[in-house]
Amino acid sequence: MFSSLATPKADPILSLSAFFKEDPRPHKIDLGIGVYRNSEGVTPIMSAVRKAMLSQAETQPTKAYIGLAGNETFNQAMTDLLLSGTASYDRASAIQTPGASGALRMLADLIASIKPNTTVWISRPSYVNHQPVMEAAGLTVREYPFFDAQTKRVDETAMLAQIAELGPDDVLLLHGCCHNPTGGDISLEAWREIANLALRNGFLPFVDIAYQGFGDGLMEDAAGLRLLADSVPQLLISTSCSKNFGLYRERTGAAIIIADSKEATTKARGRALELARGTYSMPPDHGADIVANILGNEALKAEWLDELASMNQRINRLREQLTLTFREQSDSQRFDYFSEHRGMFSVTGLDNDQIAALRNDHGVYVVGGGRVNVAGMKESDIPAVVNAFLAVNA
Ligand code: LMR
Repeated sequence: MFSSLATPKADPILSLSAFFKEDPRPHKIDLGIGVYRNSEGVTPIMSAVRKAMLSQAETQPTKAYIGLAGNETFNQAMTDLLLSGTASYDRASAIQTPGASGALRMLADLIASIKPNTTVWISRPSYVNHQPVMEAAGLTVREYPFFDAQTKRVDETAMLAQIAELGPDDVLLLHGCCHNPTGGDISLEAWREIANLALRNGFLPFVDIAYQGFGDGLMEDAAGLRLLADSVPQLLISTSCSKNFGLYRERTGAAIIIADSKEATTKARGRALELARGTYSMPPDHGADIVANILGNEALKAEWLDELASMNQRINRLREQLTLTFREQSDSQRFDYFSEHRGMFSVTGLDNDQIAALRNDHGVYVVGGGRVNVAGMKESDIPAVVNAFLAVNA
């Protein structure tokens, strides 16, 4: 049965992590997979998370099943975090999923089960898992222009020109903030124009927001998504607690459905739960219970918000330091984009030879396409990273 299978393609991010682990060089630097690391190079368990875990261990009454939608307190808290006060709040319904990838797949399956001929438009470039997840659900994937490789900025004119061509058989997949892989975010004016185009042409916006709180702040990072939620009749959202709660391995995320009426949302939610039953059945509870406890407890929530803000400020400081060191060492301002970008990642435009030389000659690991995880750096790594980039003629 299995011998005729072709050799599987390696995942570009996860395979890099495996190579990094095997590299015996002590000076190696991992700027690949999207995890936050502190100044000691550790991905910390946030203090509010640890407290909620301890309390869970002592007070959780049972491990009996919860249900297809997971933890409803968590679902409400996720909806509040993104949508409270928006016009669509009352029409929104969240379902806990295994990470944001689980939410992407659930919503893709939902779309395919209703309209199998839908085309999903993703940015060029986009998160490496967007296309595979959408195609696995049977949807067609096409790209809209997004990033100008020369300026390292979003080309909003080209992006909006393509989006203006979309219609009722199209879904537009957007990154809520901290674009993965480029680090280039779109302006509020562009979000407004996207809302107008969705209203005029009838395509369905779908926002993947996996980095809320890692750009300019928790609320600021949701501003574009909230603008859409105020304007359009239908909206899909996938969200994640991997980054902003540091719960990567707990696979804690949510799919949020907003339909044009409460009744339609209830029907869509029902279909999505049927799809969940046919795949993983129920989502894992551990991370969602922790998040629900933090967001439902004033003191723990305040502690989490403080810690998240410190992480966010540190990422933005790393961006500034990187830019300054590049300025000094290269005698140019061509790397200033590092401080203009937001979130974990920046796309550097390195080609495959440069990426291989970085890894082989300098022990610096970056993802194909030249994505650098700025949030994975220690302050003390910056001189070596800058030297390595300049040595490969970045
Ligand atoms: C990344 O882009 O590095 C992360 O989101 C990890 C993943 O699941 O791909």
